[in-house]
Amino acid sequence: MKIAIVTGASSGMGREFIMQIADRFSGIEEIWAIARRKERLEALSPLIPVKVRSFAIDLTDKSRLKDLEDLLMKEKPEVKWLINSAGYGKIGEVGTVNLQDEMGMVDLNCRALCAVTHMVLPYMSKNSRIIQFSSSASFLPQPGFAIYAATKSFVLSYSRALNEELKQKGIYVTAICPGPVRTEFFDIAETTGEIPLYKRIVMADPKKVVRLGLRDSMMGRPVSVYGTTMKAFRLLCKTVPHTVIFRLMKRLMKAV
Ligand SMILES: NC(=O)c1ccc[n+]([C@@H]2O[C@H](COP(=O)([O-])OP(=O)(O)OC[C@H]3O[C@@H](n4cnc5c(N)ncnc54)[C@H](OP(=O)(O)O)[C@@H]3O)[C@@H](O)[C@H]2O)c1
Repeated sequence: MKIAIVTGASSGMGREFIMQIADRFSGIEEIWAIARRKERLEALSPLIPVKVRSFAIDLTDKSRLKDLEDLLMKEKPEVKWLINSAGYGKIGEVGTVNLQDEMGMVDLNCRALCAVTHMVLPYMSKNSRIIQFSSSASFLPQPGFAIYAATKSFVLSYSRALNEELKQKGIYVTAICPGPVRTEFFDIAETTGEIPLYKRIVMADPKKVVRLGLRDSMMGRPVSVYGTTMKAFRLLCKTVPHTVIFRLMKRLMKAV
């Protein structure tokens, strides 16, 4: 049975991936949707023509991860798509966000993403795709969002290396690196601090970010960056010393 597995499926870009995969890839027989909010996952079924199986799992809970591993072992599906979208960020300087949230970002954004990838890989074969959610925050250390940005740098590095490892098997890994996207992400991120105004100005539409992510993944591209502003930001971070960019950003924050 050919399936897609999507984490972070209850909202934002994970949910959007489910919609677009169901719409565009007729060979997918089931989509396994993973997140904590069961009712949100169950609400997906009537909306799409593909069978959705809901798994209300906290991915930072090791025993629940084991349940997922056991299920994979029992059902031995052919996983054509793995989308690791579950993730969160909390704005605030290091030490001002509570310890549970600081560690939680590492646990979910990095540890759980690696664990799910490890568990699913044996069930993937030639022409399968893995999409990992990094962020444009991975391009530059982010004072005021330091741990989140560091987790996303981890994801970018991990995904690019994994892509090189898996290429010869015909499995392609794409790290999606969006700038700010209009989802529930900021409802959570802003419980501990506010995002700078300039980020609000460049907010992207999740549908467009996901559409490009799917296209880049199909093309075998290791990194997907949506929008001219974020592409320019990536280039800036590659070519200009980061200390100079830090100074520029401080000025920008003061100006807006
Ligand atoms: N929005 C942005 O501006 C932006 C920019 C760059 C990168 N990203 C990244 O894109 C990915 C998707 O974010 P989004 O914008 O779509 O945000 P979102 O709407 O808040 O979605 C986050 C998803 O993660 C799930 N999740 C959170 N904690 C979880 C846990 N412990 N176990 C299982 N699932 C959990 C949430 O579901 P439950 O609450 O139901 O568990 C939700 O489905 C994230 O990795 C984020 O870091 C976002």
